[in-house]
Amino acid sequence: MPIIKTKEFTLRPFRKEDAFSLFKNINNKKIYRNTLRIKYPYTINGARSWIKRSMKARNRKSGFKWAIDINSEVAGGIGLVRIEGHQAEIGYWLAEKYWGQGIMTRAVRLVVNYGFNRLKLKRIFAYVFTFNKASQKVLFKSGFKKEGLLKKHAEKNGKYYDDYLYAKIK
Ligand SMILES: CC(C)(COP(=O)(O)OP(=O)(O)OC[C@H]1O[C@@H](n2cnc3c(N)ncnc32)[C@H](O)[C@@H]1OP(=O)(O)O)[C@@H](O)C(=O)NCCC(=O)NCCS
Repeated sequence: MPIIKTKEFTLRPFRKEDAFSLFKNINNKKIYRNTLRIKYPYTINGARSWIKRSMKARNRKSGFKWAIDINSEVAGGIGLVRIEGHQAEIGYWLAEKYWGQGIMTRAVRLVVNYGFNRLKLKRIFAYVFTFNKASQKVLFKSGFKKEGLLKKHAEKNGKYYDDYLYAKIK
């Protein structure tokens, strides 16, 4: 799994010492509302066990999960998951204090390039809640196309949500 350095951030694997900054930055209702699998409140123990699992998950079968490191803190996360044959799903989140600076658009481009060029993927897709305009913008700016509306595709805490399906093809 490569480490990708840019001027503003580094994409690198998670490590044990990340638990506190992961917990601090991900524990945000706005992040919870806009994602399917991130819990709220998010606990420090949740962060520890997530990191443990992600440290074992660094291959095609388990997916690739990078920390977005800014000043040695976990400012966010991005991953290629559910890799099946030539396709994979992309997912990401960023600490609120860094929103609106183009960081995720750059991170998505780097991870997509890795997926296409190194993993030889042909299709990378994302599910986005229909109300999540910021994430749709990130995908649009990264060259993803909206492929459709998936009614009640996501289930969270007994409620159903509509998703847009976005994909980028090589
Ligand atoms: C989605 C998220 C990762 C975006 O990260 P980011 O680094 O702020 O993204 P960028 O700055 O690269 O791009 C965001 C774009 O959305 C725009 N935007 C933000 N909020 C918006 C809104 N409510 N309506 C329309 N556009 C919006 C920004 O202006 C920006 O576009 P611009 O560059 O043309 O100005 C971040 O908001 C986040 O972590 N959200 C919560 C978790 C989440 O939604 N994860 C994705 C699940 S699919």
